Order: sequence, then structure tokens, then C-alpha cells
Amino acid sequence: MGPTSIANLKRKDLFQTKGYINAQWIHSQSGKTFDVINPATLEKIATVPEMGAAETAQAVEAAHVSFQSFKKTTARERARLLRKWNDLILENIDDLALILTLENGKPLAEAKGEVAYAASFLEWFAGEAERTHGEVVPVANPKQRILTFKQPLGVAACLAPWNFPIAMITRKVGAALAAGCTTVWKPAGETPLSCLAQAVLAEQAGFPMGAINVVTTLDLVAEVGMELCTNKFVKKLSFTGSTRVGKLLAEQCAGSLKKLSLELGGNSPFIVFDDAKIETAVEACILAKFRNSGQTCVTANRIMVQAGIYDQFAEALAKRIQQLKVGDGTEEGVFIGPLTHERAVDKAMCHINDAKAHGGQIMLGGSPLDLNGKKGYFLQPTVIKNMSREMLTTREETFAPVVGLYRFNTEEEAIELANDCEVGLGGFIITESIPRSWRVTEALEVGMVGVNLGLLSACESPFGGIKESGYGREGGRQGIQEYLALKSMLINVDN
Ligand code: SIN
Repeated sequence: MGPTSIANLKRKDLFQTKGYINAQWIHSQSGKTFDVINPATLEKIATVPEMGAAETAQAVEAAHVSFQSFKKTTARERARLLRKWNDLILENIDDLALILTLENGKPLAEAKGEVAYAASFLEWFAGEAERTHGEVVPVANPKQRILTFKQPLGVAACLAPWNFPIAMITRKVGAALAAGCTTVWKPAGETPLSCLAQAVLAEQAGFPMGAINVVTTLDLVAEVGMELCTNKFVKKLSFTGSTRVGKLLAEQCAGSLKKLSLELGGNSPFIVFDDAKIETAVEACILAKFRNSGQTCVTANRIMVQAGIYDQFAEALAKRIQQLKVGDGTEEGVFIGPLTHERAVDKAMCHINDAKAHGGQIMLGGSPLDLNGKKGYFLQPTVIKNMSREMLTTREETFAPVVGLYRFNTEEEAIELANDCEVGLGGFIITESIPRSWRVTEALEVGMVGVNLGLLSACESPFGGIKESGYGREGGRQGIQEYLALKSMLINVDN
């Protein structure tokens, strides 16, 4: 049997249950706490401090003081720290994955994948730290010389979601630290433990006092968010989460014109054309739909299939899904874990019932899953045929292992349906035609397109959206630029 509880951690010190401010593990000033729950069993894993505006201001102050010296470190020094942190994460991959599975629910193998993905951002930004060149600008006035260079913005607030609590921290914080910013991390209330474990390793890697601070909160999240958005020392805020909260943060940051990166909700079209290979389409769909139990911002939400291949694809997909084991992520062979929240099950059931009421035909699943009396938030993997535009899933992310199959006839119709949407994060195309893959990629109103695959995540590829999916890019060459300010220097050479 594999590890199933915190007691199985090899490094016990990775299990931290306090906030981390100015290199101290601290409690909330009020003494208030909240519980972290395992969504597979509904058992309590830990109790952590409920911090508010006061502790947040303290964390920002510590980061601001630390910035005064950290900004003077060389890019190479910062790169070394990031590489050391990367190595420590990989050395402790089993423990980090276990903590992640226990608080988020994703299966252990997938959790290990997230830890490796998280580490890859540190290695990537260690390289990028030294590649933030400025330029020498050709001048119109021969008595002048002009050059540009880049400097870190200051304190960066990094607000991470519960669906990728480890990787979304390093995608933000790796870029911020590489640029020379200091950081305040605000993990989601559901998943603070993997974030706190990362802080242990970052401290061990040698980041200086105050460069890393973690504020834990659940019920006081609005208060913490307001402090981060209005505190004058915070110069950059990066958020991954819902479009609703992203808009609120943008409004709150407007007063001090903070630089923002917003990676918000999606509603990814997954378009299978008649010329697709069925096996490629099925495997890509499994990944795009069932990764993290359907709870990623780029999860395939509207599965659109051309009429000539519709029934064949639906049958093959349903057959393949029946082979996927659902259960507690610590159990061997589990591919689909629980949803992270009770309200996620409610939302999925609302979408399923709405589809049924509008003529959707359930091919598979369609109900919460009773796993031999296990209390967790499990849902049967579900496939629904005959989806139509008026259904809720057309407009909203279902964020659950529910496949809704829409039928289309022409490429134009597919593009029109895909773009009839307020958000634009990811999209997928399955086709054997190279010209079509170009045409459709160019026509889709999204920030990222996957062709003949079901995963858009790679540290070297810029991640982000357009429309109401937000702005800014994480990862890639662009990720570090979000934490830098460009300065021009104009020199009189006529003396
Ligand atoms: C997300 O869901 O926000 C991130 C997914 C990813 O990086 O793959």
C-alpha cells in the first residue's frame, strides 16, 4: 500500500500549519483558524491560521524591506537560488505530491506530475533571469545616446488557486524572484499546505528573510485581497481564479494603478473534425477533460464534434472513460479523484440536469458517485449527447468530469460556436489537416490552442488568455517581463 496520510511523509517538517512572514512561522493575531479538509474522505488534515489585513500588511512590509537588498542581487545569484529550490522540490517530490493529493484530491501520479511541472518553472526562470536584456536605441540626435534596461517592480502579490496549488505558485513566484521582486503568497484556503511546504524548501534554498511570505486565509479572503490591492508597497499582483474575482481585484487595484496579471476563467472548445484520427481525439479528450477531475481553467468544456464522426467518437470516448478508475487519489490506479468542493458537485449536477431538461441524452454517468460509503465529493464521469446552445454548459465552465458533446456540420459553424463566448483562454483542435489546423487556430478567439493533443501546459510556452479570460502571460519568455519595469537612459555625449 502507498502513502495515505500526513503520517507517511518522509520529511515531517514539510507539514507546516502556520503562516510564514519575515522568515517566522506565525499564528494569526486573532488566534482564529480554519480547517483543511481531504475532499476524498472529508476528514480534517490540518488547522491553519485565519489571517486578515493586519498580517497581510505585515507580510507586505517584510517583503518591502527585503526588496531593498534583494533588488541589488545579480541575476546569476537569483538563478542559483531558483535552481537550488528546483532541486529541493524534485528531491521531495513524493512528500509534496502526497500533501497535494490529500488537500486537493488529485491522484498521486497526477500530483507528482504537478510537482514536476511546478519545479520546471523554477529551472525555466533561472535561465530567464539572465536574459532580461535592454537595448541600445539608434538616436536621431547625434549628441545623445539612448539605452534601456529593466528593473524589478517591487513587492509582488501572488494569489494562487486551489486546482494547481503548487505549480501556480512557482509559475508566478519563480518569475517574480528571477526578476528581483520579493513576494507575498496567498494560497487558496482549500489548499494552503502544499504552498507552506514549498516555503520550507524555498527557505532551505537560501532566499533571504522577507523575500517569501505566506498569508493563509479562508473566510477573510476578501479582506486580505483588499489589503494586497490597496497597499502602496505592492507593485504587482498576479491572480489565477475566476473572472468574477479577477474583475473585483482589477477594480481594487485601479486606485494605485498596480500592474496586474489575470489568468481567469475559460470555456475551452474542443473541436473534433471529420478527418481526425479517433484514437488521437479520444486520448486528447481524456486529458483535456479529466485532468484534475475536469477542474482546470483550460479544461475542454464544449466538446464539438463534426457530424460525420460524431457517433463513432461518442461511442469510443464512452468506452474509454469506462476504463478510468474513480476514487481516493492515494489509491493505486485511480485516474479521477474527487472534486475539491461540495459546491462543485452541486454545480455539475445543475449542468447535467439542465442538459437533460433541454434534450441532452446521458450516455454515461450523470450522478454523484457513492464509493462504498466514502464521504468524498465524487461524481460519476459523465458523457452527454445532443448538447445544444441554450444549455448552461455552453456559457459556463462546468469544472467537473462531465463531457457534453455538441454536433456541428461545417468548419465555419464550429468557429462561430467556439467564439460565441465572453472568455477566451484555451482551445483544442483535432484534425489531420495542416492547413485546417492553421486556419482554425488563427480564427479561434483564445490565448492558446492545442492541436492533436489535450494539454496546453509547458513552462516554456506563454500561458494566458484574451477577452474575459484576463491579460498577462505566465511562463514562456514573457512570464518574467510581467515583474519588470523598463527604464530608458538618455545620455549627453557632447562634452
Ligand atoms: C489552470 O488551470 O489555471 C492552470 C492549468 C495549467 O497550467 O495547466
